[in-house]
Amino acid sequence: MFNKHLIENVGISLKGDHYQDILDSKPNVPWFEILSENFMFGNESNLEYLLSIRKNYPLTLHGVGMSIGSADGVSLPYLQELKKLIETVSPSWVSDHLSWSNYSNKFTNDLLPLPFTNETIDVVSDNIKFVQDYLGIELVLENPSSYLRYCVDEMTEWEFINKIVEKSGCKILLDINNIYVNSYNHNFDAKEFINNLPKNIVKEFHLSGHLNKEAYLFDDHGDKVCDEVWDLYRYALNHFGNIPTLIEWDNNVPTLSTLEEEAKKAQRLFS
Ligand SMILES: [Fe+2]
Repeated sequence: MFNKHLIENVGISLKGDHYQDILDSKPNVPWFEILSENFMFGNESNLEYLLSIRKNYPLTLHGVGMSIGSADGVSLPYLQELKKLIETVSPSWVSDHLSWSNYSNKFTNDLLPLPFTNETIDVVSDNIKFVQDYLGIELVLENPSSYLRYCVDEMTEWEFINKIVEKSGCKILLDINNIYVNSYNHNFDAKEFINNLPKNIVKEFHLSGHLNKEAYLFDDHGDKVCDEVWDLYRYALNHFGNIPTLIEWDNNVPTLSTLEEEAKKAQRLFS
């Protein structure tokens, strides 16, 4: 089911605005990442574009709707749809977020933060094992940006991530911008976050822009990567090695060539 194409170097998010441009100009981009939900639950109007692009490029799937932290488990209809998409496009891997959005048939459009507790680790790890068995994959989960912490937290975010990986066998998509945003919003040292993650658990990096609201940073994926995040990315490459990296850009989507320039900037930092 999984594609053997190697994902390496710096890819970019596949945006609807660029489908035709990509087919016409066949840009020198090593891989694209697609938002899974854009092609699930009947959202198949652009599937032909996707399959045409797929002929020339490796793909990864990145979702926002799995809700791996739901205390009442991951939705089976969601997983059925995701499995269909995996079979259709043969991605190199499948990722979502270490967060929750659904509970008891109530859905939010947000990636809500999880309490960093041992009880959460048990719930999330059981959900991950279920998903991995159901889909037959190694799941990759991203550290989300957040704007609150719970008073019941029992550990740091990196301790939480390490325990989830140990217990479930998943891998991590490390969003460098999200580490920076959280370090500002929750007042911790972003480098300490990186120093405390083992090198072999990270499958992919994300890089994106955010909005500075002064009192907090808002992760809007609507701008170029800022200098502070580039610095942290350099630090992460030094710690983890040349991890495949994705330029994410979801709001105020620029031209394809602007995304390619950001990708080349990241590529030049590989050793
Ligand atoms: Fe991300």
